[in-house]
Amino acid sequence: MVNLDLDTDNIGSALGADEVAACQPEVDRWHQALETGKGAGAEFLGWLHLPSQTTPDQLGEIRAAARRLQDQCEIFVCIGIGGSYLGAKAAMDFAHHAFLNQLPASSRGFPQIHFAGQNISSDYLADLMEVLANKAVCFNVISKSGTTTEPAIAFRLLKGFLEKEMGVEESRKRIVVTTDQRQGALKAMAETEGYQSFVIPDDVGGRFSVLTPVGLLPMAVGGLDIEEVIAGARECEARTTENSALDHNSAYRYAVIRNLLYRKGKTIELMAAFHPALKTVVEWWKQLAGESEGKAGGGIFPASAEFSADLHSLGQWVQAGNRIIFETFIRFAASRSRLEIPAVREDRDGLNYLAGKTLDEINEQAWRGTAEAHLEGGVPNMTLTLKDRSAYGLGQLFYFFERAIALSAYLAGVNPFDQPGVELYKTNMFRLLNKPGYKKGNA
Ligand code: PA5
Repeated sequence: MVNLDLDTDNIGSALGADEVAACQPEVDRWHQALETGKGAGAEFLGWLHLPSQTTPDQLGEIRAAARRLQDQCEIFVCIGIGGSYLGAKAAMDFAHHAFLNQLPASSRGFPQIHFAGQNISSDYLADLMEVLANKAVCFNVISKSGTTTEPAIAFRLLKGFLEKEMGVEESRKRIVVTTDQRQGALKAMAETEGYQSFVIPDDVGGRFSVLTPVGLLPMAVGGLDIEEVIAGARECEARTTENSALDHNSAYRYAVIRNLLYRKGKTIELMAAFHPALKTVVEWWKQLAGESEGKAGGGIFPASAEFSADLHSLGQWVQAGNRIIFETFIRFAASRSRLEIPAVREDRDGLNYLAGKTLDEINEQAWRGTAEAHLEGGVPNMTLTLKDRSAYGLGQLFYFFERAIALSAYLAGVNPFDQPGVELYKTNMFRLLNKPGYKKGNA
């Protein structure tokens, strides 16, 4: 079952069908490079066939740990940044109630889920500790390198907090580590302290790791059916592996269209979510695309928006600003709930013309109206419509973007799997903070 549909009708006259078709040989070449490990960064292709290689035992181990954590805690905190946090947060927001943590524990059915380590803010951490005080708490600290400063700071403070609240012995049972198999400070700490730990495979980079324990453990604690997530990803893996033809492989079609638009000067891709549950998926995509493609002085700038909210902030710029932009809309075919506009006797707000229509019907016309207006304003656009908010559909979506962005980066001529540009801010910060070994001129 395919839960996602890519509609490219609104690319309009920006690209001819023949231009897309003409890319097929290039696509086939890069598809082969991916499948045979002949492209740049091939040592990080572990994600490519990860769904089909994930075993029931591996999922069972994750589910068992998740059940233990669910039984142990009222609040579960994921500590991580970038690829070690965005996928889990995207999954929670995709699948769950908009006010998840405010629901009574009995109707939620699993702990409150919070995130830390993605900023360096004393206010954020102090506020979080206030929420955690006197509660049964568990942490999942996630870092592939095991040395990233932001989550390391959050973990040091939160670990100290937990040990003070519950004692060192009890804390050990409440911390689970997800990190490299061999190296990094976190690996060493997990061994010394005896924390349960999960491994991030060597050949899977951070932003491609959502379908490893990095994303799967928090998802399982948060009540998602991880077998279904993997089943969806597996379907997309099979479909995109077996056939690279652009009229069949929508991940590659998306990759080609965005590259052709880029070559014509459309240097920004605005991905706009037409449902709040998709907002963090878009943030996850932003990292995936930005870190994979922003290299060698080039690359599409991936920008994110939430519509309607941003139609009332960025809308003017998109409609009439610098014509260097294209858009990808992402939406659900249907919501979970059905709300209808009621007719009222005195039509003071003038909304009776909408009486009897559902919010989904109105949102659909908002999307259609926006797509049409932006195309007329010179912004070609595509739409990815997801059938529903199921775990299966989520797995497909994650894999769809991984496959698409990897191919897209190859089409753009860069290695999708490194991120050398992220290091410079760290080097400067370490020098400014007098980290041993980071004196001026000694990076
Ligand atoms: O894609 C990547 O590798 C990065 O964005 C990482 O996910 C991010 O920097 C966090 O790294 P780590 O998991 O090592 O703490």
